[in-house]
Amino acid sequence: MHRHVGAISVLRSRYRKTARSGSEVVKLMTSSEGRFSGKIAVVTGGASGIGAAVCRRLIAEGASVVAGDINGDSLAVMQSELGTSFVGVPTDVAIEADVENMVNTAVHRFGGLHLGFNIAGTARGGSIREIELDDYMFTIRICQAGVLLGIKHESNAIIRTGNGGAIVNIASLNSRVPMFGAAGYCSAKAAAHMLTQVAALELAEYNIRVNTVSPGLTATPMTSPIAALPGVMDAYMDRIPLNRPAQPEEIAASSLYLASDDASYISGINLFVDGAWEQTGYPDLRPFQEKASADRSTS
Ligand SMILES: NC(=O)c1ccc[n+]([C@@H]2O[C@H](COP(=O)([O-])OP(=O)(O)OC[C@H]3O[C@@H](n4cnc5c(N)ncnc54)[C@H](O)[C@@H]3O)[C@@H](O)[C@H]2O)c1
Repeated sequence: MHRHVGAISVLRSRYRKTARSGSEVVKLMTSSEGRFSGKIAVVTGGASGIGAAVCRRLIAEGASVVAGDINGDSLAVMQSELGTSFVGVPTDVAIEADVENMVNTAVHRFGGLHLGFNIAGTARGGSIREIELDDYMFTIRICQAGVLLGIKHESNAIIRTGNGGAIVNIASLNSRVPMFGAAGYCSAKAAAHMLTQVAALELAEYNIRVNTVSPGLTATPMTSPIAALPGVMDAYMDRIPLNRPAQPEEIAASSLYLASDDASYISGINLFVDGAWEQTGYPDLRPFQEKASADRSTS
C-alpha cells in the first residue's frame, strides 16, 4: 500500500459512482481567505499528497509555511509554485537535528511559530511472523518518533513565540482499525494518536491544542501503486460507504479546521475523515437478513 508509483489517475477517475465525486466536493469548498493571515506554520511531508494540499491551502488563507520533507526536488517545485510565503527545508523527520532545523527556519525566516502539521509518513510492510525488526523500526521511527519530534520542537517554538497555537498530527484509519501485513504502520499510527492525547494534556497550559486527523483511503502517490492492482479498488469500495477515495484537499480541509479558531475548544481528538469506512468493520449482512426475513414470512 505504501510504495510510490504514478497511477493516481486510477484513484481519481474510477470511483465516481456516488452523486458527488471528490473533485466536485473540492471545488465546492470555499477557501476562507485570511483565516490564517499572519500565522506561521511548519508542515512535515509537505512535498506531496496531503502535506502539499495543506501547504497550498494554508498559503491561500494567508499563512507563511515552512515545509520539511526528504524529497528536496519536490520541495523545490513547490517553492516555485508557492513563492515567498513558502520555504522548503530538506528534512528527515526521524532525525531530531533535522526537525529542529526545520522549526528554527520558520522562526528565523518568518519570526515565530503558531501551527505545526506532522504529516510525513511511509511504511515497510510484512506480516508479524516474518517482518524484520529493521523494517518494523523504519516505520516506527518515521510515523511515530517523527510525530514526537515534530510536537516537541513545534511546541517549544510556539511557546517561545508566545501566543499559543495548534498542532495537527496525521495518523490513519489504521490508528484504530488493523490491517493485514502492516504491524509497523498500524502500531505507529495508534501511537501517533496517543502522542496527540498526551500532548493535548501537557500543552493545554500553554494554550496549544493538539489533534489527530485519521484519513481513510486518499488519492496520493502513497496509495497509487495498490490502486493500480486489478480488483483492489472494488475490494476497498465494498468497505467505504461513500464509495470513493478522498482527495488530499478534503483531508487538508479537515486539518485546517482543527488548526483554526473555529476549533478553539477542541483538543485531543482523533477525527476520522474516511467516508464512513470506520463503520464497516463488519461485513454487510443485509442480504442475509433480508433472506432470513423472507424465509420467516413464508413459513
Ligand atoms: N494516502 C492515504 O490513503 C493515507 C491514508 C491514511 C493516512 N495517510 C497518512 O497521510 C500522510 C501523508 O501521506 P500521503 O498519502 O500524502 O503520501 P505521500 O507519499 O504523497 O506523501 C508523504 C510525504 O512524506 C515524505 N516523507 C516520507 N518519509 C519521510 C521522512 N523520513 N522525513 C520527511 N518526509 C518524509 C515523502 O517524501 C512524501 O513527500 C502519511 O503520514 C500517511 O501515513 C495516508
